[in-house]
Amino acid sequence: MSAVLAAARLHAGSRVLGAVRSSSSSGSAMAYSAKIGPSILSSDLSCLGSECVRMMECGADYLHLDVMDGHFVPNITFGHPMVECLRKSVGQDPFFDMHMMVSRPEQWVKPMAAAGANQYTFHLESTTNPGNLIKEIRDSGMKVGLAIKPGTTVEELAPWANHIDMALVMTVEPGFGGQKFMEDMMPKVSWLRNQFPSLDIEVDGGVGPDTIHKCAEAGANMIVSGSAVISSDNPRSVIALLRTAVAEAIQKRSLDR
Ligand code: DX5
Ligand code: ZN
Repeated sequence: MSAVLAAARLHAGSRVLGAVRSSSSSGSAMAYSAKIGPSILSSDLSCLGSECVRMMECGADYLHLDVMDGHFVPNITFGHPMVECLRKSVGQDPFFDMHMMVSRPEQWVKPMAAAGANQYTFHLESTTNPGNLIKEIRDSGMKVGLAIKPGTTVEELAPWANHIDMALVMTVEPGFGGQKFMEDMMPKVSWLRNQFPSLDIEVDGGVGPDTIHKCAEAGANMIVSGSAVISSDNPRSVIALLRTAVAEAIQKRSLDR
């Protein structure tokens, strides 16, 4: 069985996001797999529940939900009451990755957990005490994601990498969907992949069929895609294309080791 086929079967067998963290770059197995998480920011927000269901039916591995407070970023989206309604609408299965583009991430940990969020991805730039926030998120029963904006170096994230489930390297300035992919963020992804071979690494912003190969080659395995998936006539094929690109890069990486 090819590694791609094996990865596809593994995907089919489980929608659970199992991050296995590693502190060393030597000798560890590839614990991560290709996962595609549509961002529903650019969907018809009046139909958010059915849009989420549609994305899952089109093969999404998880849903990336963008929370903006009009302060950390110059835009407002929705908060935990909406997440609670969405959870009721879509059922327990879909994994909600909350991208918290907010100035006081500490404030929303418990409400988001209660609303049914699975992962709480906060921005390193938004807090003075990441260690405490990571603990609060875990104590609330959620996984931990840590995001950096384009202007933040990956070295600033590195001290926390063994304490989180996922690192998010932003490939646009957060705040809006439909922006141009920043290819110059790829060295951050490569560096993280080399340093933390088993870490889930997510990219977000301007990712679609034209830019996925850069992300995959650099070592990203969790792919957020908004407008490229949502506005496509065939979201299923876009999601499949994105996943295949990442699965092939993972296979190549494992053969090169
Ligand atoms: C931007 C958001 C992204 C965005 C992605 O601040 O975090 O999740 O919606 O959308 P596209 O893929 O259209 O850039
Ligand atoms: Zn996002």
